[in-house]
Amino acid sequence: MYLGLDLGTSGVKALLIDAGQTVIGSGHASLDVSRPHPGWSEQNPADWVRACETAIAELKSAHPKELAAVKGIGLSGHMHGATLLDASDQVLRPCILWNDTRSHAEAATLDADPRFRKLTGNIVFPGFTAPKLAWVKNNEPAVFAKVAKVLLPKDFLRFWLTGEHMSEMSDSAGTSWLDVGKRRWSPELLAATSLDEKQMPSLVEGTEKAGALRADLASKWGVQAGIPIAGGAGDNAASACGMGTVGAGHAFVSLGTSGVLFSANASYLPNPASAVHTFCHALPNTWHQMGVILSATDSLNWLSEVSGKKAGELTAELGEALKAPSGVSFLPYLSGERTPYNDSAIRGSFTGLAHESSRAVLTQAVLEGVAFAFRDSLEALKTAGTILTRVTAIGGGSRSRYWLKAIATALQVPVDIPADGDFGAAFGAARLGLIAATGADPLAVCTAPKTDATIEPDSGLGSAYADAYQRYRALYPAIKAVTA
Ligand code: XUL
Repeated sequence: MYLGLDLGTSGVKALLIDAGQTVIGSGHASLDVSRPHPGWSEQNPADWVRACETAIAELKSAHPKELAAVKGIGLSGHMHGATLLDASDQVLRPCILWNDTRSHAEAATLDADPRFRKLTGNIVFPGFTAPKLAWVKNNEPAVFAKVAKVLLPKDFLRFWLTGEHMSEMSDSAGTSWLDVGKRRWSPELLAATSLDEKQMPSLVEGTEKAGALRADLASKWGVQAGIPIAGGAGDNAASACGMGTVGAGHAFVSLGTSGVLFSANASYLPNPASAVHTFCHALPNTWHQMGVILSATDSLNWLSEVSGKKAGELTAELGEALKAPSGVSFLPYLSGERTPYNDSAIRGSFTGLAHESSRAVLTQAVLEGVAFAFRDSLEALKTAGTILTRVTAIGGGSRSRYWLKAIATALQVPVDIPADGDFGAAFGAARLGLIAATGADPLAVCTAPKTDATIEPDSGLGSAYADAYQRYRALYPAIKAVTA
């Protein structure tokens, strides 16, 4: 048995698989995001630990014998968060998350230093880790002075599980401190934010062992002490391992809190100017690119909150058949945008509202707006040299067929739906746990699931969607011009 633990923005998932990779069961616990000021987004690391305990307790009560047989654990988690520990490993402040934009000025300053783009292959986005530390230095100097270790969110869970300060390449590539081509910390970039390598965790590949389970937790859960924890991966690379998106040109579209258009690459192909992210993959000596939109299901969740209707009820009101865009447009920039604009100040908008704009019309516009944001990422990947001819859909939002039809039509590529099953980040993490524990060949383990159905672009609505996409493109500069 192998256990995958995924720390998502909205909850923790613990997933158990057997040696043949059949899913045995899972446990889940929800998490909230705190937004104490506009643009801020934080979580308390103690809540992550509590959520893990709850998810594992749920798994234990349903599958005690199988949990007892766990031989390896893999970790996955939301990326970029700054978890700050003092010299006695106490958490210094709430973790500043990936979709927090408070450090936009610090990010711009670091990004203007050409060494960052040259060594990391990426823009320094406000969501990345280094500008967050620069913000803490500028705004909370007493906290900064005490920082002994900077851990990414899932690596804080590793610290809790093992007592070790360790990380791996895929998540560390999103810090702005990793030399992404050489797969090692850059002392030069760390020094540019007044830090050094001693404040960073040590690095392994995602498939390698990175710590062993503490005896007290092992006895509490009824598992063997000392079983290996794999390096694991940031949530996107972990999902890619779950989906078998490991060979060059394979791609997925992820409809989670954030939206990601992800492509695996055989080599390091940086192209920061396109605002595409180029990171290390979780498998040794491989890389990947992705376009990231900050509010995907978060956009629908926002509409759900303001309309008092569940997200599923909103999408059900649209029916199954794709409709022509109504003339109402939605920009999904609720917390700014990464690809293609790197703009933390821009905010979302509805335009074209009329008396007849019903709730269903607004839902339709939100789904289309997110689909067009993915089209922007597709164009950005193209500029970075990656042409996608089909994508596989994953993430909670992919339960909506309407949304997948909108995405296929906006991207003009077929969208594959995997056969029923659980192929997300927790599954990918469990696979990495299996590889680290057994030494199995990563490519033999990380295979793609069968395709259940393929959603083709709607040929009748292709030109209406193309027109609506042109309107969508024109709105960003217009809204930008009236944004303070
Ligand atoms: C990737 C990113 C998000 C988070 C969400 O760069 O910020 O996809 O990993 O979990």
